[in-house]
Amino acid sequence: MHDPDAFHRLSTDKALRYAEVTAEIESVLDGEPDRTARMATVAAMLKHAFEGFFWVGFYVVDPHRAEELVVGPYQGTLGCLRIAYGRGVCGTVAASRRTEIVEDVEAFPGHIACDSRSRSEIVVPVFDAEGALIGVLDVDATEPAAFDETDAAGLERIVQAIFARASLGA
Ligand code: SME
Repeated sequence: MHDPDAFHRLSTDKALRYAEVTAEIESVLDGEPDRTARMATVAAMLKHAFEGFFWVGFYVVDPHRAEELVVGPYQGTLGCLRIAYGRGVCGTVAASRRTEIVEDVEAFPGHIACDSRSRSEIVVPVFDAEGALIGVLDVDATEPAAFDETDAAGLERIVQAIFARASLGA
C-alpha cells in the first residue's frame, strides 16, 4: 500500500543517518591528509553504517593511463580492477562527472557485473579542492532500487567534505 508518510519517515531517517556518519567520518579523519587512508576509512565506515550496502569503494583516476579508473580502497567482495571512462556505471560517471542512480543494474547499458548479487547501485564523482576528478565512489546493494536522491545528497556531501578541502594533501 502506498504510504507517503512512511516514505517520508524513511528518507528522514536515512538523511539523519548520513548526517551522523558524516560527522563520525570527519572526526576519525581529523588531521589525516593521506588520500588512501581517507578512502579506506570512508569505505569502511559507510559499509558498516548502512545495512543494505553490499559493496562500497572507490575507483580512482589512474595518472599513468589515459581515461582509465583503477580500483582503490573498498569493502565487499572482489571488485574488478580497471574500468575505462565511458564503460559501466563508474566509467559513465568518470566521463560525465555526474552522479548516477541505477535502480536495476541489468537495465543499464554496459553495466560491469563484478558480483552478480549486486542489483542496484549509486556512483558519485569525487573531486579534489581544485575541482579535478580524482575518482568515483561506488555503492552497490543486493536489493533493486535501493538508492534515491537522499543517498545522492548524503554521499556527495561526504566526498565533498572529505576530499575537496583545500588543506588536504594528496
Ligand atoms: N558496478 C560497476 C562496476 C564495479 S563493481 O560493481 C564493484 C560499474 O558498472 O561501473
